[in-house]
Amino acid sequence: MSSPSTAQSLPASASEEPAITIRNITKMFKRHKSHEGILALRDVSLDIGKNKFVSLVGPSGCGKTTLLRMLNGLIRPDEGEILVNGQPPAPGPHMGFVFQSFRLLPWRTVHENVAYPLQLNGMDKAEIHERVMRYLDMVGLRKFAESYPTELSGGMKQRVALARALVAEPDILLMDEPFAALDAQTREFMQFELMKIWHQRKAVVVFVTHSVDEAVLLSDEIVMLRPRPGQVSEVLTVDLPHPRWDYDARARPEFVELRRHLWESIKEMVAADPQSEFFNREGKTERSAAED
Ligand SMILES: Nc1ncnc2c1ncn2[C@@H]1O[C@H](COP(=O)(O)OP(=O)(O)O)[C@@H](O)[C@H]1O
Ligand SMILES: [Mg+2]
Repeated sequence: MSSPSTAQSLPASASEEPAITIRNITKMFKRHKSHEGILALRDVSLDIGKNKFVSLVGPSGCGKTTLLRMLNGLIRPDEGEILVNGQPPAPGPHMGFVFQSFRLLPWRTVHENVAYPLQLNGMDKAEIHERVMRYLDMVGLRKFAESYPTELSGGMKQRVALARALVAEPDILLMDEPFAALDAQTREFMQFELMKIWHQRKAVVVFVTHSVDEAVLLSDEIVMLRPRPGQVSEVLTVDLPHPRWDYDARARPEFVELRRHLWESIKEMVAADPQSEFFNREGKTERSAAED
């Protein structure tokens, strides 16, 4: 061992190496017309294992999106280090990104939207077509290949966005509240769709959600962040067996207990945050707070 200081923070064998290593990340955003910045993340460290489905949850403004954008290499930390498969993060075909807003190109058909990342990679036409159709099949949209985004429902658009993120076969999939814009029923279908796709084609998924229910249903691990400054508050393991569409996971006592714990913790954080509109309102349930 030539370097005991680095060896300490690394796992014992190469096979156990995490896919994503986040070490002591700090990120400050500058504010217009103010000398004071916003400390979006402070000293965040996290390991994400290969093929794990990990959710980031926590109140608004706790740095979930900032962390996700750093994993993609879109923004850089001020301090600390991120390694994705041993390399500094950079956007590329090994990484897929799905946003809350679908961000489809309206002048391109479904097929052309999904083909886009492969065209950027310079893949030949026949191979692109085969791949696009395979992934449209996977998300149940083969018949809509020649439709335009405006002809599709919200859930269908989100499935196109999912196919586009998967088509280059990334081993890392980053999703920022991908189902937040969908109605409750479509959202539930999409959750099951995602579980099935992930089961077929394992990848690391880092999934940001406001919904603790969704986090428990989908994840192997849940990382709870606290706001101002954004910090890791807790990392929880979800022990429910996969695949979870085979049984009523939500009825399991482990599910109910985890959801309760997460929701109680978020409520406490929000009530303790002077910048939240729900400051000092502990004791209120979600419903009574929303009805005010
Ligand atoms: N580009 C930016 N410029 C200035 N402040 C930002 C920027 N992006 C995020 N922030 C601030 O950083 C904090 C974390 O934001 P974000 O990562 O979007 O939180 P979340 O996704 O958990 O709601 C918030 O206080 C937000 O206002
Ligand atoms: Mg966000």
